[in-house]
Amino acid sequence: MTLYRAVFAVLVAGVSVYFIAIQYWSPTSAPPVRTEQYDADIEIPSIGLGTWLSDKGKVAHAVEFALKSGYNHIDAALIYRNEEETGKGIRAAGLPRDKLWVTSKLWNADHRPSEATIAIEKSVKDLGVEYLDLYLIHWPVAFVPGEGTKIDETTTIVDTWRTMENLARSNLTRKIGISNFSRRDVETIMQICVICPYAHEFETHPYLQQQEFVDYHKEIGVKVIAYSPLGNTNPTYKDKNKLEPILEAPFWVKLAGKKNATVAQTILAWGRQRGTIVIPKSVHEKYILENLGALDISFTAGEMRDIAKQDKKTRMNNPGRGWGIKLFADLDDPTRLSDNGGNEL
Ligand SMILES: NC(=O)c1ccc[n+]([C@@H]2O[C@H](COP(=O)([O-])OP(=O)(O)OC[C@H]3O[C@@H](n4cnc5c(N)ncnc54)[C@H](OP(=O)(O)O)[C@@H]3O)[C@@H](O)[C@H]2O)c1
Repeated sequence: MTLYRAVFAVLVAGVSVYFIAIQYWSPTSAPPVRTEQYDADIEIPSIGLGTWLSDKGKVAHAVEFALKSGYNHIDAALIYRNEEETGKGIRAAGLPRDKLWVTSKLWNADHRPSEATIAIEKSVKDLGVEYLDLYLIHWPVAFVPGEGTKIDETTTIVDTWRTMENLARSNLTRKIGISNFSRRDVETIMQICVICPYAHEFETHPYLQQQEFVDYHKEIGVKVIAYSPLGNTNPTYKDKNKLEPILEAPFWVKLAGKKNATVAQTILAWGRQRGTIVIPKSVHEKYILENLGALDISFTAGEMRDIAKQDKKTRMNNPGRGWGIKLFADLDDPTRLSDNGGNEL
């Protein structure tokens, strides 16, 4: 009996030591190291809520309402100056972290390594998430920190991409990507990347379709996030062109009627069917719900061809003139430095 007891005591002690050991010393308790393959199966949701120009007093409710209504993707940026309020909405919605996609962006004045680390840490903290799902270089343009829009001639986009790779390695973001890059800029990054861009966020909608550029991203395996997906609907674009408001354009009104949908839903559905991820912004419950209806609409090949003919090759968002930089040089409607204006983001 005594022998049994002694064997039993030794066994219990052994098992206890084993469990204590794996809790404290096992390699599985070390933080995961991010690689390109790590959680590669988690994809960006095909519709998200935009937050640019969302009023600080309204964005928390808009985000909470959207997340409780079926959205699981929020597009944010430090320069929108509303990430803290956006974070309040995220927290209030209470979605499990792994059911939510949050994108933020590195502003032009933060491209240098130490500024970039401070910037992403601020976005992560303000948005109230432990990590971002996607962090984008907002523009392929570096400003000298603390000197307004003075161009930083010493920081190239390759330098900035290396900084982004290090941010991914530090687990502050699951994926990294780019925004507003020309085709040449994309090629440069694709040639040098060790961790390659997951997505490219750029302006594209029926009035600026950029089909070749969209197709090129498919070939190279980089997802396209379509910003300003409702074309010239954003009121900040009202002086930018002589095009009719897309929500009132007869072609779209007719097509929407055929689909028994609103024009906004029809436009967003086209964006999804061509394989882009759409991120319409709204602070109104009615529009936020309405835009989700895009998920139920599809088009025939003939309808897709008719929509292709609606391209106006007209860009709404081009701050290049204000910065003295020729943006989108090899794309439709590039910066013309001689024109006036240019204070967009
Ligand atoms: N990476 C970049 O450089 C960049 C640049 C621009 C935008 N973005 C991102 O893309 C997001 C979307 O782009 P955006 O804000 O320029 O334009 P948008 O989403 O195409 O249009 C927004 C405008 O459309 C209105 N709207 C939304 N749904 C509507 C509906 N169903 N019917 C009628 N009107 C509707 C909104 O109204 P209310 O707001 O009044 O409800 C708002 O005025 C931004 O918020 C931002 O997150 C990124």
